[in-house]
Amino acid sequence: MGGATLRRRDDGALELRVNGVFVMDDVETSSEQALARTVIDLGAREILVGGLGLGYTLRSLLASPQASRVIVAELHPEIVGWMRDGTIPGADLLADERTQVTVGDVRDVVAAQAPASLDAIVLDVDNGPDFLVHDANAEVYGAGFVGVCASRLRPGGTLCVWTMAPSASLTASLNAALTDVREAAFDVRLQGRDERYWIVSGTRRDDVATAD
Ligand SMILES: C[S@@+](CC[C@H](N)C(=O)[O-])C[C@H]1O[C@@H](n2cnc3c(N)ncnc32)[C@H](O)[C@@H]1O
Repeated sequence: MGGATLRRRDDGALELRVNGVFVMDDVETSSEQALARTVIDLGAREILVGGLGLGYTLRSLLASPQASRVIVAELHPEIVGWMRDGTIPGADLLADERTQVTVGDVRDVVAAQAPASLDAIVLDVDNGPDFLVHDANAEVYGAGFVGVCASRLRPGGTLCVWTMAPSASLTASLNAALTDVREAAFDVRLQGRDERYWIVSGTRRDDVATAD
């Protein structure tokens, strides 16, 4: 596993890289915040987020008093450490009594949750199935892990996945365990370029098995 690095760019932006690959900056964070809004608007109260990044999804979730518990899975301990010591703004997010941060792989953190215990799972751990920063994250977008996520959701619960581009295989993974699967596009301006990012979401089907 490669490491995470932070740098302050010449334009003043804070930039996060993992394995040397650009992951995000603190200038264009609208789609990260939209992830949170999507599940808050659907009434979610107990939510699991993977990963922490620069904390924009978490901040948006905690801004809603409706969010009663937010479990965060973050693979890179240094990112959590930087947020705790203020290198990444957000020590207040980690100190919030509703936040539970676990350093680990989101696949393990989701699997450790009780069946049917969450209203929403929000996945923003990589750039999408076709643009992986960590090869091992391919599994995050596969039907097997999506099925595990579905089993940890309450009936009517939502899985939301951020991706740089829509992917037929990701949509198929969601369709295998979820209903009402949809893709929402977000037009963003990233360092002078127009980009379109996507949130793919679905609702837990009633017939999903919740026993392991
Ligand atoms: C794009 S950032 C998340 C951005 C976040 N939504 C925000 O608002 O700032 C992706 C994060 O996921 C973490 N990550 C990557 N693979 C992971 C995994 N398998 N499990 C948990 N976290 C992971 C990365 O270290 C990084 O912090």
